[in-house]
Amino acid sequence: MQKVEVSDRDWKHLLDLRDKVHVPGSPAGSNSNPCMSLYRPLAERTKPFVLAQVGQSLDGRVATPSGDARNVSGSDGIVHLHRCRALMDAVIVGVGTIISDNPSLSVRKVKGPNPIRVVIDCNGEIPADAKFLNDDGESVILIQADDVDRTINGTQAVKLPRRQSGLDVEDILGALRKLGLNSILVEGGRRTIARFLDAGVVDRLHVAVAPLIIGSGPNGICLPPVHSLSEAQRPKIDVYNIGTDVLFDCDFRHQYQQT
Ligand SMILES: NC(=O)c1ccc[n+]([C@@H]2O[C@H](COP(=O)([O-])OP(=O)(O)OC[C@H]3O[C@@H](n4cnc5c(N)ncnc54)[C@H](OP(=O)(O)O)[C@@H]3O)[C@@H](O)[C@H]2O)c1
Repeated sequence: MQKVEVSDRDWKHLLDLRDKVHVPGSPAGSNSNPCMSLYRPLAERTKPFVLAQVGQSLDGRVATPSGDARNVSGSDGIVHLHRCRALMDAVIVGVGTIISDNPSLSVRKVKGPNPIRVVIDCNGEIPADAKFLNDDGESVILIQADDVDRTINGTQAVKLPRRQSGLDVEDILGALRKLGLNSILVEGGRRTIARFLDAGVVDRLHVAVAPLIIGSGPNGICLPPVHSLSEAQRPKIDVYNIGTDVLFDCDFRHQYQQT
């Protein structure tokens, strides 16, 4: 397992790559540096890119049954999440995460830009007093069905056709691309990540496993059932020691067949 250490120089290099500042070759830029092999694919935004991220316990849970989800990830898992936010154009969550966790979706644990904040709020259910709507932070985009008539001051509403199962993930990504948002972090919750995975649009999935066992409660990913393990998804995986947590970096563009 590779140990990830991010020096100030490494981080500046990654932010320069993100901002397409010309970076002369340097040892820190080498893919033999675990920090670069983990973060460079996120920073080099040469084509549209979707990263999904789950922070979970050893037994695959993201909260207790009563909904306590704070501090599932260890401190280094949180820093990792903030690095991912800083490297991407936008962060997406479903409205369920806003209601249950009331997150800020900003970058606070590292130096770097805040992503545009996007909430999938198909039916216009977002609480008007949600923290991130009232914090003077980065812009907020609400993705709503086109039959929803609800506006929230200070947000931009993107209206999309209501399909049989809600909003089409390709429609969402297409609308964001038109706004110049090409690299997207899908941060949760479980139903939102499942929809993106099921649509086959996720390039990378980061599963950060923290050393605790919650025992019961919701899991991080819930896909439609498969009948046999031969149908299970088997992405190419690199494993990193990020300090308090272990990170599985799953590359969905390279899948293995079961033999
Ligand atoms: N540890 C982590 O990494 C992490 C991160 C974020 C959240 N969480 C946890 O995840 C839980 C919340 O997950 P959740 O699944 O309840 O909420 P969620 O995924 O944040 O939001 C779910 C809501 O958004 C809707 N939605 C999502 N995509 C849609 C689409 N394309 N079209 C229409 N509607 C769409 C869902 O509709 P449908 O029901 O019709 O699908 C549902 O109403 C909380 O316990 C939270 O703490 C954990």
